[in-house]
Amino acid sequence: MTQRQTIDKQSQVDILNERFADAAPETVLEYFLETYGDRIALSSSLSLEDQVLTDMVCRIRPGARIFTLDTGRLFPETYSLIERTNRKYGTRIEVFFPDCSRVEEMVKQEGINLFYDGIEKRKLCCEVRKLEPLRRAFKGLDVWICGLRREQSVTRTDMKLVEVDASNDLIKLNPLISWTEQQVRDYIREQNVPYNKLHDEGYPSIGCQPCTWAVEPGEDVRAGRWWWESPEHKECGLHRRR
Ligand code: ADX
Ligand code: SF4
Repeated sequence: MTQRQTIDKQSQVDILNERFADAAPETVLEYFLETYGDRIALSSSLSLEDQVLTDMVCRIRPGARIFTLDTGRLFPETYSLIERTNRKYGTRIEVFFPDCSRVEEMVKQEGINLFYDGIEKRKLCCEVRKLEPLRRAFKGLDVWICGLRREQSVTRTDMKLVEVDASNDLIKLNPLISWTEQQVRDYIREQNVPYNKLHDEGYPSIGCQPCTWAVEPGEDVRAGRWWWESPEHKECGLHRRR
């Protein structure tokens, strides 16, 4: 993306942020799903936030694109939720897998559980198992919808509803950016949205099985993600900002 294109996209995004400053997530989704047709997709990790968005998206436009990245290291409960979600909404969540030759090479060089051997190796695993498949999932898209909330982490406090994702030449839409955890939980309960059973067992934030722990009551919601790393490093690179 050239500097000129980034500036143009940024002004378009500034206008949308102003227009939708106080709008409900459904209103924002209606506009974007209508405007971008087949060039918009929800990127779902099957988190509580993504399940709320799946429910909203399927009500507004049944058949809208939803994809997930299967790193090969997910919890069994997450796979079961993919099935339950597809059944409830009549969807077929697209599943993107890592390139098997890259995984084989990485494991051969660094071992199967390389992520515990320092941040560089953890990031390598996230690159091979998440980021490369994500770049493939982006093909044909102008906008990706994510379940990010400002409250989630010190790395997310200044995120906006609509952002320019310059590294991927996309617009990134975060419809739940200003929602609280309570709002998310209330929506799930009131609308009877299927969710990961691990959330009832002390796992507020769920990623790959070897990199996710349960947390104690009162602990930070992301304390169990890459628990051996400090909070400012706890991003897999999906939401890297320039
Ligand atoms: S992460 O960077 O720490 O893994 P987190 O689990 O908080 O991210 O999820 C934030 C948002 O990133 C999700 O709401 C979803 O939009 C996207 N995301 C994260 N993991 C995946 C995944 N495995 N597949 C698709 N989207 C994902
Ligand atoms: Fe690998 Fe852990 Fe990243 Fe999953 S979260 S891709 S297992 S380092």
